[in-house]
Amino acid sequence: MEQLITIAAFAAYCRQARRPLGLVPTMGALHAGHARLISRARAECATAVATIFVNPAQFGEPNDFAAYPRDLPDDLATLEAAGVDAVFIPSAEEVYPCGHATAVHVAGPAIPLEGDARPGHFDGVATIVAKLLIAAGADRAYFGQKDAQQLAVVRRLRLDLGVPTAIVAVPTVREPDGLALSSRNTLLSPEQRALASVLHSALQVGADCFVAGARDRELVEAASRAVLDREQAHLSVDYVALVSPDSMAPWKSGPALLAGAVRLGPVRLIDNLLLGDPQS
Ligand code: PAJ
Repeated sequence: MEQLITIAAFAAYCRQARRPLGLVPTMGALHAGHARLISRARAECATAVATIFVNPAQFGEPNDFAAYPRDLPDDLATLEAAGVDAVFIPSAEEVYPCGHATAVHVAGPAIPLEGDARPGHFDGVATIVAKLLIAAGADRAYFGQKDAQQLAVVRRLRLDLGVPTAIVAVPTVREPDGLALSSRNTLLSPEQRALASVLHSALQVGADCFVAGARDRELVEAASRAVLDREQAHLSVDYVALVSPDSMAPWKSGPALLAGAVRLGPVRLIDNLLLGDPQS
């Protein structure tokens, strides 16, 4: 597996790579969720490249950035074992050199929910994703349904900037109790970990109402919220929202996404269910 640390070397590698070329952007601390994206890219593309960069621009609080788990030796072993052809591991100075003055701002789907809770987060995501898409010029880029709003933002960015790379959504990988895999799960105490699956259970209750025919957005949201409220001594709810998966606007008709975010001590967990899609 090639290890590339400059944008120029990464772009040069991608230009000469066998096609189709698949790109899997990550922040490392790789788990089975990332592995699912990588194996999709490996299966569908002649060349599979991954990126590892803990992007400071998408973190609000410096503490969150500092606490973000990092394990490069382990990540490299995982990527090698998964048959990835090359990994791009830039430094912050490489991505944001002295004097950099350009950022990508996405409105629309980036505004509510996570956009509300984490000001500037999606501009940071959009900027790094745009840079990676431009450098790689990949045929396909793989993103997890776990971060449904990020997926909507990347799709919007792709449309608005005319990026030719196809965006492939990969279903959420979960622990046996339903908790969506996340690098942040390692920051949970054993007690918080035991409680964390309530987010998925709560969303499932709302989803069941929707699937059973409930078409009142507030009723669906309230069904999920009631489950979370039972645990209000241990967690705080940021939001539960039934939205349209492309615009992230409150759901009125068509495909629906039930998304939730809770705080368990210092850890913020997000999850969602794409309604009507049994794989999500
Ligand atoms: P990161 O959190 O490392 O996630 C990298 C990719 O893995 C994202 O597309 C995310 O949605 C996906 N992923 C994470 N957990 C998953 C799970 N349980 N099941 C399926 N896919 C999962 O998301 C980012 O990094 C960054 O914002 C990034 C896009 C790399 C830009 O910095």
